[in-house]
Formats: sequence, C-alpha cells, structure tokens
Amino acid sequence: MDITKDVRAKQLGQQPKTIWLTGLSGSGKSTIVNELEKRLFVYGKKTMVLDGDNVRMGLNKNLGFSEADRVENIRRIAEVSKLMNDAGLIVLTSFISPFRKDRRNAKEIVGKDSFIEIYISTPLEECEKRDVKGLYKKARAGEIADFSGISSPYEEPENPDIEVDTTGKSIEETVEYIFSRLKKYL
Ligand code: ADX
Repeated sequence: MDITKDVRAKQLGQQPKTIWLTGLSGSGKSTIVNELEKRLFVYGKKTMVLDGDNVRMGLNKNLGFSEADRVENIRRIAEVSKLMNDAGLIVLTSFISPFRKDRRNAKEIVGKDSFIEIYISTPLEECEKRDVKGLYKKARAGEIADFSGISSPYEEPENPDIEVDTTGKSIEETVEYIFSRLKKYL
C-alpha cells in the first residue's frame, strides 16, 4: 500500500500511540481515560477511546471473564489499537488487563515504540471501598465468579511507563500528573 502509516500520521500531524491503562475495577481507569482524551483533544490530537462500553458490548460481546476469554479480549483490543494507530490515531484503552503476559503480548502487537503502559495502582482496599458498581460486594458474596483482585489474580506491572495511585487525589490532579508525564511521548 502506498498510503502508509507514516503518511497517514503526517497528514494528521501527530505520532500515533496506544496509551494502555491497566488496573483493578474501580481504580479510576475509565474516568481518567475520559478526562485525558479531553486534554488531548484540546491539544489538537486525534484520539479514540477503547473501553468496556464500546468493545465488550460489541466486538467482544461473545467473551466473558474466564482466563481464556480475558486473554482473547486483550488480544483483540491490541489488534484494534494497532489498526487505529495505523490509521494515525492516538488510542487510549481502559481494561483491567490483569495478566502480565497479555500486556506484554499487546505491546508486541502494537509495537513497543508505540505502546505506553499506565498503571493505575489504586489498591484493592480503596477500589473495594468505592465499589462504584456494587460488584465487589457481589464478588465477596460469591455471586460473581473470577472477579479480578478477589477470586481471579491481578498481576501488577513490573515496569510501567507511568504509575498513579488515585487514592485521595482529585481527578484534575491525577490527569495533570499523567498528562505532564505523557508529553514526552506525544
Ligand atoms: S479484562 O480482565 O478482560 O481486561 P475488562 O476491563 O474488559 O476486563 O472488564 C472489566 C469490567 O467488567 C469491570 O470493571 C466490571 O465492571 C466488569 N466485570 C464483570 N465481571 C467481572 C469479573 N469477573 N472480573 C472483573 N470485572 C468484571
């Protein structure tokens, strides 16, 4: 193809990246991604968010939360992110992505120079205290199987590009911190 990734990126005037958020349910990923996208938008960047709402309800609606399904969930998201990067976009993803090897695989699919891993390291106790969707309560009661952090593992990133624990921080503070760290990659 003559219209290459570079040509498309040049036309959009940006460096395509995949900004990959990982962290427990309730850690703040979706809120952060939403605010971060607004910051990037104002900055003139062309972006796209991938999250549970637009991926698990559509492309991945045949997948649940078994280990095999989560592996496939993350693989497809990585492939879609790569395609969107090829189209020139900056992609922000918001998925628990609990397994280290899957995140490593996602990085390989996207390409290591385009992949920025952000660990939202809000501890389990805080996520459970927030329990925004009431899912931790259900998981503790045994009503939801394989719940990340409770009955299914979450493997912390060993070397994330950016890490932030949202405990006691405002969303503005968190996004400002991430944005200041992100600038050098964009
Ligand atoms: S991932 O593990 O495959 O990356 P993903 O981020 O897509 O997970 O979906 C997580 C969201 O699905 C949670 O924030 C929660 O709202 C919901 N959910 C439903 N069942 C589970 C479960 N068993 N474990 C974790 N999250 C669940």
